[in-house]
Amino acid sequence: MSTLLDRIDAVKQAALAELRAARELPALDRAKGAFLGAEGQFTTLMKELGTLAKELRPLAGKAVNAAKQELEAQLAVRREELELSAALPKEPTDFTLPGRPRRLGKQHPLTQVTADIVKAFRKLGFAVADGPEIEDEYHCFDALNTPADHPARDSQDTFFLDVPSRPLLRTHTSSVQIRVMEKTPPPIRIIVPGRVFRRDNADATHNPTFHQIEGLYVDKGVTVGDLKGTVEAVFQDLLGNDVKLRFRPHYFSYTEPSLEIDFTNALVKKLGKDWLEIAGCGMVHPGVFEKVGYDPEVWSGWAFGFGIERIAMLRYGITDIRLFYENDTRFLRQF
Ligand code: DAH
Repeated sequence: MSTLLDRIDAVKQAALAELRAARELPALDRAKGAFLGAEGQFTTLMKELGTLAKELRPLAGKAVNAAKQELEAQLAVRREELELSAALPKEPTDFTLPGRPRRLGKQHPLTQVTADIVKAFRKLGFAVADGPEIEDEYHCFDALNTPADHPARDSQDTFFLDVPSRPLLRTHTSSVQIRVMEKTPPPIRIIVPGRVFRRDNADATHNPTFHQIEGLYVDKGVTVGDLKGTVEAVFQDLLGNDVKLRFRPHYFSYTEPSLEIDFTNALVKKLGKDWLEIAGCGMVHPGVFEKVGYDPEVWSGWAFGFGIERIAMLRYGITDIRLFYENDTRFLRQF
């Protein structure tokens, strides 16, 4: 009996030594076969148990099983080690090598233009604000001095949601002016890049959804001169020093006076035009200040809104707005 127990231990030690010595997975498999396989040494020991006296069998059986279990556990550990080292590179990695050229993704041209516009305004001390795309009529129209029966609503009638409170997809980022002023006491200096939605028919220059940047500046003694200077500085920063702007009288219900901004540079001339309309702006209407609880006798301010797509089209010489939304990689890769 003791000789059998000794042999069990000797076989176990030999097996452990062999699997520790295995340097590769095939060697480990061979070791497993030699000890645990159908012809393996442990199988032989198991068969010998039958030749022992009955009362000795349980003790010897336990010893064989314990040895086998230990061996199997060690096998699993060793297998994991070998699998890991097989997966590692054979040569050490040289981290000083230059990167391999690869075709990485790119930011969408509208994202790039938006980032540049934001950067230009940040230099002048403007902070970025945000508001909901699903808006209520109050913030989109009423608080902007555009009551339900106002004719200016017609051109912006838009996509309403079919629920009792009748929210709508915002027609302009001007709604965020109201949301910010409701929450923040003056002075205010913000820009709001965002997506807007209109009933515009899709043609080469219009799309039912597009992007705007809203600007709002409120302080004491703010003038139209500040507005012109700011907008001119930003457009020259974005599109070069040959940019010229022209301010024309216009009508918006939330500004008085209201202006439209026309833009020209070499590219506009090349497109066969003298001027392109790019923005609406004006001095914030006292009625708007009253709605948000600012005293119009104390505070004055200006606001503007322009289309990001328009600016991107000018910057890159694109004549069809729909290219921005088709996600054709041959188009997108060029920016
Ligand atoms: N909300 C106007 C539009 O979508 C643009 C605009 C005009 C914004 C005048 C303003 C503004 O803030 O003062 O066409």
